[in-house]
Amino acid sequence: MSLVDKIRAKARQRRTTIVLPEGDEPRTVAAAEIVRREGLAEPVLLTPDIMKEKAEAYAEALYELRKVKGLSREGAAKLVGDPMYYGMMMVKAGDADGLVSGAVHSTGDMLRPALQIIKTKPGMKLVSSSFLMELPNASVGENGLLVYADCVVNPCPDAEELAHIAVSAAETAQTLCGIAEPRVALLSFSTKGSASHELVTKVQEATALARQLAPETLIDGELQLDAALVPSVAAQKAPESPVAGRANVLVFPDLQAGNIGYKITQRLGGANCFAVLQGLARPCNDLSRGCSVDDIVNTIAMTAVQAQI
Ligand code: ACO
Repeated sequence: MSLVDKIRAKARQRRTTIVLPEGDEPRTVAAAEIVRREGLAEPVLLTPDIMKEKAEAYAEALYELRKVKGLSREGAAKLVGDPMYYGMMMVKAGDADGLVSGAVHSTGDMLRPALQIIKTKPGMKLVSSSFLMELPNASVGENGLLVYADCVVNPCPDAEELAHIAVSAAETAQTLCGIAEPRVALLSFSTKGSASHELVTKVQEATALARQLAPETLIDGELQLDAALVPSVAAQKAPESPVAGRANVLVFPDLQAGNIGYKITQRLGGANCFAVLQGLARPCNDLSRGCSVDDIVNTIAMTAVQAQI
């Protein structure tokens, strides 16, 4: 069964409500119809009429949440007139289980209200992302499935942030992809001290911190990509590593590397890829503006699965 089929099957197990702020966007409208028909979730397409229902209550709740940041009552009322903010407030209030947006809005437009309103889940230092990469070559990762992090959110994570990204990605591999044993490689241009540089030191520190945060998870670094994935290279460069040569979760040292890495895998490696945000208190996911109706359906299904966890 493909990853998408598995995720769709899981989404059907419990009915969740997913709000779609871009309620008049044609691909989103078409996706909502499929999602409802296939029983993947109960989609709510936001329209000006729906947004009148709880505008006052949400404005007051938003004001209470953000007044310490200088938001006025008038400012809050204006913000909930924006479907993205209204949708986030629905999730915050428990009137929806999750949110999917981004067919029209940029990643930043969607992320900022999510970070401000939904915030991180307890114990989680930051929000990040994982890309689920389904490769044609089943000999790499978990039968051809690899989890890449972070490719969307944090431009320059420090060692502590990188450690949290690694732990979140391992969790996503387990809970969303059904990978029983995440094997996490923190990537670098160096393997086990083959190069010395402050960038390498950051990855080494992040590896040590990630192991402290999740002692039961197999985590290793710093590893070059080939040492992480190719058994013969791993045998040469990192023979003692429990992860090298068989990693299924790849953690990139910063957003430039992660974003470029997933696009190379997609465009040159022929991978199918699906992005999810991780570490938020409730699931909210971003679409690419070039997304298809099918991409939106899949993202709604993934959000529904995250909402069940
Ligand atoms: N986790 C948790 N909270 C965060 C995070 C994070 N990673 N980053 C920022 N925040 C919080 C801040 O603490 C702040 O909270 P507060 O207002 O309650 O104090 C709030 O979010 C806003 O923080 P700012 O630093 O003011 O937000 P900023 O304007 O820097 O935007 C953003 C944050 C949107 C995540 C930014 O870092 C960004 O644009 N990242 C890159 C997005 C992107 O373009 N990705 C690549 C393309 S996507 C693709 O190719 C698929």
